[in-house]
Amino acid sequence: MNVVQVDTPGGSYPIHIGPGRLDALDQCIPADATAIAVVTNPTVAALYGERAEAALARTGKRVLRIELPDGEAHKDWQSLNLIFDALLAQRLDRRCVLVALGGGVIGDMTGFAAAVYMRGVRFLQVPTTLLAQVDSSVGGKTAVNHPLGKNMIGAFYQPIAVEIDTDVLGTLPAREVSAGLAEVIKYGLILDPAFWTWCEENAQKLRALDPDAIAHAIRRSCELKAQVVGKDERESGLRAILNLGHTFGHAIESGLGYGAWLHGEAVGCGMVQAAELSADVTGFDRGDVARVRALVAAIGCPAVAPDLGADRWLELMQVDKKTEGGSIRYVLMTRIGAAVMQPAPDDAVRAVLARTTQ
Ligand SMILES: NC(=O)c1ccc[n+]([C@@H]2O[C@H](COP(=O)([O-])OP(=O)(O)OC[C@H]3O[C@@H](n4cnc5c(N)ncnc54)[C@H](O)[C@@H]3O)[C@@H](O)[C@H]2O)c1
Ligand SMILES: [Zn+2]
Repeated sequence: MNVVQVDTPGGSYPIHIGPGRLDALDQCIPADATAIAVVTNPTVAALYGERAEAALARTGKRVLRIELPDGEAHKDWQSLNLIFDALLAQRLDRRCVLVALGGGVIGDMTGFAAAVYMRGVRFLQVPTTLLAQVDSSVGGKTAVNHPLGKNMIGAFYQPIAVEIDTDVLGTLPAREVSAGLAEVIKYGLILDPAFWTWCEENAQKLRALDPDAIAHAIRRSCELKAQVVGKDERESGLRAILNLGHTFGHAIESGLGYGAWLHGEAVGCGMVQAAELSADVTGFDRGDVARVRALVAAIGCPAVAPDLGADRWLELMQVDKKTEGGSIRYVLMTRIGAAVMQPAPDDAVRAVLARTTQ
């Protein structure tokens, strides 16, 4: 088992990474907990619900299950209320512990519910998608969507631990694996050139979920994310570099309609576009742009963006949360392993769109 420690002003906690962690969930429940509520969805519950609950039951505490409908479309206030309904109906008090068993959708909703139920109860992240294991379960961002915008209602709220069972990735559809790998290579591209090169050398092993390769990728991703959120929990500066590829990616997601491309697929493609823009704006090496394009393709993500029309592209990117005072700030590379945030001229963006869309 690997352990990565996260230290933020809002809380310090361990991330445990390894096979079989699902069977050890009882070890993460504090002795003074009064009850445990497992929040999950029917897909994940059918695969892993009983195992997780059997482990939690070894604490001798009451364990109840709350199932929310599966999918990003249900990451909303209504689903959140289902959690509160169940917790209140079952009379769970301030010393209960919520367990988020699922992907990023379940993790984000459970974390937000924990942040506000009884003004805050403890919660455990048990991420079951690769994307959730390397990204969303770490760092304490929680949220639900609003009809007028994704992740617009939420809180910074840290879990008491993150339990990553690498075995559960075996049931994940291949597309979801590729989408998670996009966030993995992102860390190398913005922070760690050696890890980037390692990803290039191990892309096929990662796609095939080779146990040693995937464990290393998860651990390194969590370490890098922990370093960043440790310095900037609330995204007043540095943390924003984790959004590499997301300005272009969000435009793809909302331009095509949510669900057409997976989030990670859009981010993978967005990283290619950000690399192209970097070459024009910061002088990022053109040979390295080709490496970004090649690795995005190698992990199974699309490297050619959809043609939404340049005006529509710019409009969609404008509504992204990262715009401040109207000008879009892009995460750009200066070299592999080093990123900066800065605006870019619309002309440069249009030139990139012309050569990256089809
Ligand atoms: N909080 C953050 O910092 C942060 C960061 C990145 C993304 N996010 C959020 O994460 C969400 C995306 O998360 P996601 O990609 O995990 O999507 P998801 O939670 O929708 O999971 C994808 C699908 O896989 C299924 N699934 C989960 N585990 C499985 C398993 N082991 N085997 C088979 N199927 C399984 C799910 O039921 C779902 O149908 C978005 O809402 C995004 O906003 C949050
Ligand atoms: Zn992302």
